[in-house]
Amino acid sequence: MRITIVGAGVMGQALATGLQSADQEFDLRFLTRTAESAVAVQAETSIPSSAEIGPSMADSEVVVLCLKPHKTLAALEALAPHLHSNTVVVSIAAGLHLGQLASALSESQPLVRAMPNTPCRVGSGMTVICGSEQTDDQAVSKVKTVFDVFGQVIELEEEHFDAVTGLSASGPAFIFLVIEALSDGGVMAGLPRDVAVKLATQATLGAATMVQHTGEHPASLRDAVTTPAGCTISALLRMEDGKLRSVLARGVQEAAESAARLGD
Ligand SMILES: NC(=O)c1ccc[n+]([C@@H]2O[C@H](COP(=O)([O-])OP(=O)(O)OC[C@H]3O[C@@H](n4cnc5c(N)ncnc54)[C@H](OP(=O)(O)O)[C@@H]3O)[C@@H](O)[C@H]2O)c1
Repeated sequence: MRITIVGAGVMGQALATGLQSADQEFDLRFLTRTAESAVAVQAETSIPSSAEIGPSMADSEVVVLCLKPHKTLAALEALAPHLHSNTVVVSIAAGLHLGQLASALSESQPLVRAMPNTPCRVGSGMTVICGSEQTDDQAVSKVKTVFDVFGQVIELEEEHFDAVTGLSASGPAFIFLVIEALSDGGVMAGLPRDVAVKLATQATLGAATMVQHTGEHPASLRDAVTTPAGCTISALLRMEDGKLRSVLARGVQEAAESAARLGD
């Protein structure tokens, strides 16, 4: 599958790295903003890169826009006249609706919105996708094939995308903070920093894997490790005093509300 990634920034390069190491062979190229960055990106990634729109769009089956939200529409307008009618356009920009994106394209252009997250870089990503009304199942499943390489993919209605951005795309940053804070606790209790980070990371990974494998509600798994009058319940009550649960939940809500404003 020939894929052009527009924008070789953090997400563009993360997606390219994952696709390069996939079992399935993808024919990748970058479209960059300037000729200078095309030279630098090609030297760094060995992926053919160019700042010329016409040749970059030729024969592309999928074009993935990895640009900041405020730059995406202008870039799409510049690309639109060069797109083949079957090319599937994918935008990963937070806050930009399918309707806004479609307005820059011809009416029948296949268009998919995708929201990946940074663990895509290590094959443990989560991507949510949604096709526009004019996009058929075949085009959506082509995009699913691309993002399958990075971890899990689900299809959701577009009305959920701001919530998805707040929880799934911003979520890894929240978990990094949690791992850091748990490690601090381990250091305070006397562990060397590297050991504390290792234990906090594995506890996070193990707990997440248990939720996935058992399908049980996290509260019931938490109950199962909470011995009466034990150390876990004493710590949990301290965390509830600090409103940990509501702070995390409100953080996700805040991120979702911020995401909704990005497309304005
Ligand atoms: N970070 C995440 O976890 C995450 C998760 C899901 C979705 N997203 C979305 O991913 C998108 C990209 O984010 P990012 O962090 O990768 O941004 P970034 O690092 O700033 O990368 C954007 C790249 O686009 C290039 N660019 C700008 N205009 C261009 C044009 N007209 N043609 C070709 N390239 C152009 C920029 O080059 P110059 O520097 O030369 O302008 C830059 O290299 C955002 O819309 C964000 O909402 C991010």
